[in-house]
Amino acid sequence: MRIGHGGIRPTLAIGAALVLVFGATGCARQEAPAPKAAAPAAPAAAPAPAAAAVEPVLDGPDKLTHGRYLVETVAGCGNCHTPHLADGSLDPSKKFAGAFVIKEPVFEAYARNITPDMETGIGAWSEDDIVNALHNAQRPDGAFMGPPMSFGWYRGMSDTDAHAIAAYIKSVPAIRNEVPKSTYSFPLTGYGPKITSVADVPKTDQVKYGEYLAGPVGHCMDCHTTYVMGVIDMKQLGHGGNVYTKPFIYDWAAVSANITSDKAAGLGDWSDDEIKKAITTGVSRNGRPLLPFMPYGLYAKMEPSDLNAIVAYLRSLPPLGAGPPPAAEAK
Ligand code: HEC
Ligand code: HEC
Repeated sequence: MRIGHGGIRPTLAIGAALVLVFGATGCARQEAPAPKAAAPAAPAAAPAPAAAAVEPVLDGPDKLTHGRYLVETVAGCGNCHTPHLADGSLDPSKKFAGAFVIKEPVFEAYARNITPDMETGIGAWSEDDIVNALHNAQRPDGAFMGPPMSFGWYRGMSDTDAHAIAAYIKSVPAIRNEVPKSTYSFPLTGYGPKITSVADVPKTDQVKYGEYLAGPVGHCMDCHTTYVMGVIDMKQLGHGGNVYTKPFIYDWAAVSANITSDKAAGLGDWSDDEIKKAITTGVSRNGRPLLPFMPYGLYAKMEPSDLNAIVAYLRSLPPLGAGPPPAAEAK
């Protein structure tokens, strides 16, 4: 299947059992909101102060530079594949070595060691193998992978970006770290027809490019689009309300925010700078430190033009205010 980008939609034509738990993508999700967690008093550790100078990761035309840029910023692969430290940062000594685990009644998923270690990592995978993993949720032997990696969105990642990411992942230092196999109590059948090629998304249309970054590359919209009974509801794009209980090493639950253009419940009344500050420093408009679940520290290194594109796209999301499920509190 060859796809362009007329409209970016994760294809979720997957087995019923998988659909039911797909809500866990991003992390463990439960149906009932946990009120006490909706307004977390203070995360275990506050994110780095807003004033801290951040070294941007520079983008560039060659494959490795571009791949490094995507992985270390908006794609944020390390948010799952690198262990988190107590202060919310990613362990620099175990980059991409795995493995946080997500335990759900129907699966126990381990983010694998994706360094090029030959025995415990993916040293034997070719660049094409990694691209196929992103596009088709498949390992080289053809076995399908399951949630919570946002495979439904990665299907829309351009060949250029997927190859750049794969090339960069193959270039990082190998780290030996044995990661247990994930177990799923339902069959993994993939996320739709096989993807063979995805066209580039031109940067000339800022909103479209922002849509592409927030979806197929950065999967912002996976966490921030409402899941109903475990199935992503594209009519509630950006509506939030998903509850993530005890993700990674943390002992709290986070509720994904409403990031639509609704003036009361979403970001409609925020200035561009306020939105950017939340994304890159983890501090909400009202000064509340956001839980370190989104990789703010990586987003802080994004090129200003990419951040601007994402903000332009968020502004274009139809406002969604009242109505189930409730938007995250503590605006
Ligand atoms: C939301 C968490 C999450 C994010 C973000 C994520 N992954 Fe994963 N990844 C996982 C999990 C969990 C698995 C194991 C899936 C399984 O066992 O079926 C996995 C598996 C993989 C595998 C297969 C490894 C193997 O040995 O089978 C590759 C390759 C991979 N991820 C690369 C990436 C890249 C590249 C990115 C960024 C573009 C990324 N992942 C982002 C959670 C994540
Ligand atoms: C792994 C899931 C996840 C991903 C990926 C993610 N977010 Fe979030 N986001 C959350 C959660 C959960 C919160 C609420 C945190 C809290 O309330 O402490 C949040 C909060 C926010 C806020 C603050 C809203 C407010 O009311 O304070 C903004 C803005 C935002 N996200 C935008 C984005 C953008 C843009 C991206 C992609 C570049 C993104 N998010 C990626 C889960 C995620």
